Amino acid sequence: MLQRHLALATLPYLSIILYVFFILFSVRIKSPLLSPSNTTIALNKTHRLHHRFTLLIGILTRADLYDRRHFLRLVYGIQSSPIADIDVKFVFCSLTKPEQRVLVALEIMRFNDIIILNCSENMNNGKTYTYFSSLPRIVPSRYDYVMKADDDVYIRLAPLALSLKPLPRIDLYYGFVIPCTSLNPFVGYMSGMGFLLSWDLVEWIGNSGIPVNDTFGPEDKLVGKWLNMGNKAKNRFSNKPAMYDYPGTNGRCSHELIPDTVAVHRLKRWDHWFNVLNFFNVTEELKHSKLYNV
Ligand SMILES: *[C@@H]1O[C@H](CO)[C@@H](O)[C@H](O)[C@H]1NC(C)=O
Ligand SMILES: *[C@@H]1O[C@H](CO)[C@@H](O)[C@H](O)[C@H]1NC(C)=O
Ligand SMILES: *[C@@H]1O[C@H](CO)[C@@H](O)[C@H](O)[C@H]1NC(C)=O
Ligand SMILES: *[C@@H]1O[C@H](CO)[C@@H](O)[C@H](O)[C@H]1NC(C)=O
Ligand SMILES: *[C@@H]1O[C@H](CO)[C@@H](O)[C@H](O)[C@H]1NC(C)=O
Repeated sequence: MLQRHLALATLPYLSIILYVFFILFSVRIKSPLLSPSNTTIALNKTHRLHHRFTLLIGILTRADLYDRRHFLRLVYGIQSSPIADIDVKFVFCSLTKPEQRVLVALEIMRFNDIIILNCSENMNNGKTYTYFSSLPRIVPSRYDYVMKADDDVYIRLAPLALSLKPLPRIDLYYGFVIPCTSLNPFVGYMSGMGFLLSWDLVEWIGNSGIPVNDTFGPEDKLVGKWLNMGNKAKNRFSNKPAMYDYPGTNGRCSHELIPDTVAVHRLKRWDHWFNVLNFFNVTEELKHSKLYNV
């Protein structure tokens, strides 16, 4: 009798405990990390993090250059690297025309590859500073490396990734050192055609007092100056002769196209682009079909 009474008295407590347990349990089920599919994703991400590195290539361009972007999407859309996750995005300053708001929005909806910075379009007026200093705030997650590239350069992603594989993931400044004939990356600076910084240096640009006070002037040169003033970028790598200007366009920064190319710069004309794409056999994987006869 006493036992039965006790049991009855415990029932409400038991149900409360069960209720609390149920809530905890359902919250856990809903927790993204613990649901089965998301656990897999998390594991896969972990797996990837240890075996692949991540790179953001920001191509600095202007909102109005729609055709250029569509062409570059073809050029980069058919490339990938087995050892790196590479995002290619187009970077420009705030929109200024009503039609841009519609046309750029369409591109974003379709391609999601655009970064619009809070700046007004300029050549030597701090766009590169705004780019690097904004990134930590605006990208969903960090990258191992961030590159700044011109919109008249052809970058070969697989050779680029291979060249980065043995290099340090921190305090790295990589590119094509200026002056043209120099092979010493610790003197001078990396050409604006395409240079790369490790993520710690990207964060440093946003946090240090040095770059923010020194944003007017040739932007590639300034980046080298900031890093020197801050005693940064102990690791430097100038990738010559794999990076260069298109033959005949820029004195001793130019040389003939070579198979082991990472980047060719100053592609100002269609015949330049055609020659480069042809040289690297980029369409050789085209499959035969009755739909076309090319
Ligand atoms: C996985 O997690 C994300 C948030 O990271 C969430 O939006 C999504 O609904 C989750 N998917 C499943 C199947 O639980
Ligand atoms: C990781 O993701 C790939 C698809 O990207 C999938 O095929 C593979 O089964 C996943 N691995 C694990 C361990 O879940
Ligand atoms: C954009 O920059 C201007 C001038 O630096 C600043 O006043 C404004 O608050 C910024 N807007 C946003 C959304 O950050
Ligand atoms: C940057 O400029 C501001 C304003 O002129 C000054 O207060 C600050 O000390 C400068 N910072 C550095 C690191 O020179
Ligand atoms: C392109 O293909 C041709 C013909 O197969 C070959 O001789 C050449 O070496 C290839 N070029 C490159 C850069 O791989």
